Amino acid sequence: MAHTPVLLNEVIAYLNPQKNQNFIDCTVGGGGHALKILSLTKPNGKLLGFDLSQEAILKLQQIKENRLILVCDNFVHLKTIVEQYNFGPINGILIDLGLSSDLLETSKRGFSFAKDEPLDMRFSPATQDFTAQMIIRQYSKDKLTEIFRNFGEEKFARQTAEAIVNIRKKENITSTLQLAGLIETTLGRRFHIKSLARVFQALRIEVNNELEILEQTLSQGMEILNPGGRLVVISFHSLEDRIVKLSFKKFKKEGIAEIITKKPLIPTDEEIRINSRSRSAKLRVAEKI
Ligand SMILES: C[S@@+](CC[C@H](N)C(=O)[O-])C[C@H]1O[C@@H](n2cnc3c(N)ncnc32)[C@H](O)[C@@H]1O
Repeated sequence: MAHTPVLLNEVIAYLNPQKNQNFIDCTVGGGGHALKILSLTKPNGKLLGFDLSQEAILKLQQIKENRLILVCDNFVHLKTIVEQYNFGPINGILIDLGLSSDLLETSKRGFSFAKDEPLDMRFSPATQDFTAQMIIRQYSKDKLTEIFRNFGEEKFARQTAEAIVNIRKKENITSTLQLAGLIETTLGRRFHIKSLARVFQALRIEVNNELEILEQTLSQGMEILNPGGRLVVISFHSLEDRIVKLSFKKFKKEGIAEIITKKPLIPTDEEIRINSRSRSAKLRVAEKI
């Protein structure tokens, strides 16, 4: 199923693309946001789109549009790539975090605990070596507890870590359903599906170093924006949202940006009804001074 862009109308309203303006989409994915932005910047506006996923970039390359520049790279290299391509002036930047439908449904890399897949969770297998399975196999009990607690905000972090360390002495934990079953058995009557979501989130964040690179990218984005240009970020859990909120406050304190959204915007009930994956989305906007 094609990825449905989240908060599309709100993104367009806040970026407000005009003809001949240039934008960056740090997470171009299925192109839902990017292609809409590009359609509003005719005839000469350009869009620079990043994605770590080769599959996503290859699909979008089939669209023959020379105003669309695609790079298969980590958005943490934003500033370097912009310099390499001599791209600008930049009127707006979008970062849509979270998982695309492609990653969840067809990547076979274990992003969803609803399917039996290898515990991989790399956004870019071509450039990353470290997988979720390696974390499960190699990390100490303390280190596992720490990531489940810090990156998953999981109440039963220690119990889950302990169970993993005990089981892995006897058998290899290699698949999503194996890990999910282990957590369910360990927590027994305390088990809730949210524990799975939290542990899977923690592993994904650790594999892809997601929080650190988000903070770095926000700073780079603010640096390269044209005055009046906007940085729009959609996050999907409280750890990401906190980083966005604190970074924007820091930019304001430094006198380099205004915060446009005092409170984050969330999808309407209607959007959540049509696209349940939008339910935890939060959108924040800052404007470069
Ligand atoms: C929620 S999807 C974006 C969907 C897109 N806005 C659309 O409308 O189709 C997030 C995308 O970000 C990509 N991604 C995640 N982390 C990344 C990173 N550090 N650098 C570049 N792309 C990344 C994923 O591969 C995924 O395709």
